[in-house]
Amino acid sequence: MGGGGDDACGATSQPPVWSTRWDSGGRIDSHRISVAPMLECTDTHFRRVCRLVSRRAHLWTEMVNQDAVVHSWRSKPEMLAYGDEEHPLTVQLGGASPERLALAATVCDAEYRYDEINLNCGCPSNRVVNKKDVATCFGAALMRDPTHVGECLRRMREAVDVPVTVKHRLGVRPTEKSPDDSMDSYAFVSEFVDVVNQASGVKHFIVHARAAVLSGLSTTGNRTVPPLRHAEVHALADDFPSLGFTLNGGIETMDQAAEHLESGKLRGVMLGRAVYRNPAVLAEVDARFYGDEPREAFRERYAGEARVAGRWDSDGFDDFTNRFGGGGGDSGGNRTTEDDRLGSRGSFFALGGTDSAACVTRRDVLERYAAYGDAVCAMNLDHMVKFPNALLTPRRLAKAALGLGHGARGGGAFRRACEREFGEWTRRLKGGEPPERLSFSDLVRDASSEMHADDLDAPLAASCAPARAHGEARYGRGAGGGGGRDDGADEGDVHARER
Ligand SMILES: Cc1cc2nc3c(=O)[nH]c(=O)nc-3n(C[C@H](O)[C@H](O)[C@H](O)COP(=O)(O)O)c2cc1C
Repeated sequence: MGGGGDDACGATSQPPVWSTRWDSGGRIDSHRISVAPMLECTDTHFRRVCRLVSRRAHLWTEMVNQDAVVHSWRSKPEMLAYGDEEHPLTVQLGGASPERLALAATVCDAEYRYDEINLNCGCPSNRVVNKKDVATCFGAALMRDPTHVGECLRRMREAVDVPVTVKHRLGVRPTEKSPDDSMDSYAFVSEFVDVVNQASGVKHFIVHARAAVLSGLSTTGNRTVPPLRHAEVHALADDFPSLGFTLNGGIETMDQAAEHLESGKLRGVMLGRAVYRNPAVLAEVDARFYGDEPREAFRERYAGEARVAGRWDSDGFDDFTNRFGGGGGDSGGNRTTEDDRLGSRGSFFALGGTDSAACVTRRDVLERYAAYGDAVCAMNLDHMVKFPNALLTPRRLAKAALGLGHGARGGGAFRRACEREFGEWTRRLKGGEPPERLSFSDLVRDASSEMHADDLDAPLAASCAPARAHGEARYGRGAGGGGGRDDGADEGDVHARER
């Protein structure tokens, strides 16, 4: 095994005006735009939502602990499960043991077929950086020992055939408890990159452009208080021209992402909270960054077809059912993909062509996602009957879709309606109604009827403003077909959902 190539991936038909050092052979590097790993946010359900909006953006899992992977991948295959359409997909591991990380990486590659494996060196959570045994601290704490990070990554690379990468901060800020101020400077991060690259051969560094504070500041504070230093990520790209750097932290719009990418020196830009808050921010990604046919043109070509969602070439939920429904456990049911593995890289290379284009409107996304949700719920009926108050799976499914109400008229009412419907589900289950009668699609349809029809049916865009302006021009201010009970009232909720 040899660490794998770090190839450009993802097909394209019309390259955008600029390119980066990592595009090759007419193919655009999939990392150009990526959706950041976010614990309790970027689960497989949210990634499906993202995929319905962008076919190209590179997606990431939440961080998974090395030990959880090593101990539980057989008994809990759903922990690492995903659908074929989620490719290109990076799995992020958390841990500090070179041996266990290598084992976990092997499982992720050989059994689950992730496209890339990443080591987390950026998480500042007290639970991972301040363990009693210093040797087991991980996340951002690892930055204090670049040689050890290099060793972990070397072992991971040796164990797998796919690229191995590292996500880190710019450094570690001094605190009262640990006043060492030598780890918070450009010189420090530059040395970190150099040492890690020399020791491991890792070539792609994803940099959250802030230092971490390892004690006395919450994880949320660690994502807002230390100042952003984007210029240092550009400086790294200048100083290490043979290495790839993805810039992360505080990017809100695709205009900002494009500004960072314009020089062609950065490998990519990663967005986290902006996408979680409003997945529609990915709407222009495929055309603008990967040269796909613009969504509008696609819509026109299929004029007369109200929905294009059904044109997906790979049905993720069928695939999910094949792997985890019926057969269960690690035997995997009637798997139809690549030999006997729990994941497949098959459709990754099949992506391309406009027939597999992402959804065109919010309604398309919601309908397609609801069909997936029905399939997932169908596999969880026993659990729903056993725990009618919790309804964990349907709630997770709904949570992943809530951002689709962002900025839409009636978006806040959409969220509230989802919550209300679950109360109704609990009541019906407790009243003895068979769980098969509960339909996730009905729930989504009812809740989304709270949104303004113009916003639901307008071509998907980061903001609903164009749909609104169009509606107002046609019908006058405040007019429209349905919903519209509140206007972008979801902003507060979104911040509440961030940890
Ligand atoms: C709720 C939440 C959970 C996160 N979990 C992870 C994680 O598991 N692994 C990781 O490397 N970063 C994690 N992060 C950090 C993000 O990946 C990203 O670096 C950070 O949010 C800055 O990017 P943004 O400003 O675009 O959100 C998390 C962030 C949030 C908001």
